[in-house]
Amino acid sequence: LTAADLNAQHHLTVGGVDTLALAQKYQTPLYVYDTGAIRQEIHAFKAVFEANDVNYQISYASKAFAAVAMYQLAAQEGIHCDVVSGGEMYTAKQAGFPMEKLSFHGNNKSLAELTEALDYGVGCIMVDNFYELQQLANLTAQREQHVTVMLRIAPGISAHTHDYISTGQEDSKFGFDLNSGQADEAVKLAQAAPYLDLVGIHCHIGSQIFELDGFKMIVDKLVTLFARWQTELDFYPKIINVGGGFGVKYTSEDQPLLPTEFVDAIVKETIAQTQAHHVPMLEIWIEPGRSLVATAGMTLYTLGASKDIPGIRKYLAVDGGMGDNIRPALYEAKYEAVLAKDPSQPSDEVVSIAGKYCESGDMLIWDQALPATQPGDVLAVLDTGAYGYSMANNYNRNPRPAVVFCENGHDQLVVQRETFADLTRLDVPLTATEPIK
Ligand code: LLP
Repeated sequence: LTAADLNAQHHLTVGGVDTLALAQKYQTPLYVYDTGAIRQEIHAFKAVFEANDVNYQISYASKAFAAVAMYQLAAQEGIHCDVVSGGEMYTAKQAGFPMEKLSFHGNNKSLAELTEALDYGVGCIMVDNFYELQQLANLTAQREQHVTVMLRIAPGISAHTHDYISTGQEDSKFGFDLNSGQADEAVKLAQAAPYLDLVGIHCHIGSQIFELDGFKMIVDKLVTLFARWQTELDFYPKIINVGGGFGVKYTSEDQPLLPTEFVDAIVKETIAQTQAHHVPMLEIWIEPGRSLVATAGMTLYTLGASKDIPGIRKYLAVDGGMGDNIRPALYEAKYEAVLAKDPSQPSDEVVSIAGKYCESGDMLIWDQALPATQPGDVLAVLDTGAYGYSMANNYNRNPRPAVVFCENGHDQLVVQRETFADLTRLDVPLTATEPIK
């Protein structure tokens, strides 16, 4: 948090808008984004590629935060997006996002989804497995419609183990296995399918990655592979897609590299390896999700009840929780919160932030220092922009919060708050007064 995030009243701001005013105007819980910060991250990625003078594509992994307005923002910035379901694809379409800039991922795309992708004319399908490859070969032949594809490879490299070349990561539901020859087989099948235009290879080694090594290793491994494929299969991939996963700073304990440092290393390694292996220089694609939106977003809550267990712990409860941010419960993810009315006040009490859901695991933050609070105070949980709204749910029949974009001192509602009526909209009452026969 910097001084620039506070206004003259010492209130926390987002995109130049007072968070207390936002809480008042839209109620809480509320997701708010500084869209200028998202644009800055995009520009920073672009600048690294351009400084290295390489062909590239930034494809926003929209699972991190998908809404019509977000696809519009991506379109404004001229970047690609990746989608992983018919629902994300439909949302992008509704946003008027250019379909040729869409990539479609997923390890079990349905025939309906593949058909939808072809109907829409999505730019690229990331083929994950043999079943999909066959379905897509058949579908495109029936329709006499070409489609651009990349193959997703499981490179046998895990970013989360100390031993990067762990067989552990081979044991993944995603992608064609490399070591057993399945990737070669997939290339041959794709080459033989007259309507599949195979342009490149994709892999993704994990998320919230803090080290460069894993990325360098996939570049080395893929370029070595491409050199062999040139001679053995007459296959010259044009694109190397290294996926996403660039880590972000959630708490003061996190010391990630800048996303741009990852990309710079990836680009330099690709240049070095292609030269070393006599492979034509590749177009480099990245798929950042978290690193584009996480720190640009925060969630505003109102404090309510508290419970002080002497000598043990003080719980402060907010009006949201695991329904709007399941990451602490699911991954033991850590966040930090500040008081919106004066984040720079000295924090002299250690508290834990509980949600309002009927589950002991519904905790947003364990043991963090905060200034003295009152019920009704607005609490901002920071850096919730990725996998917060996109993983929100209606547990306990709580409506999902609204989403507001803020930029240059202006705010715009981009997702409405769900209502109780929305919660029963799909419910169908029993028609009989007796057991269903
Ligand atoms: N590309 C592919 C193929 C992916 O599977 C993912 C994330 C990304 C790109 C984007 O990764 P990112 O840059 O966001 O790390 N729900 C989890 C994260 C799951 C990520 C799944 N795949 C969380 O909340 O931490």
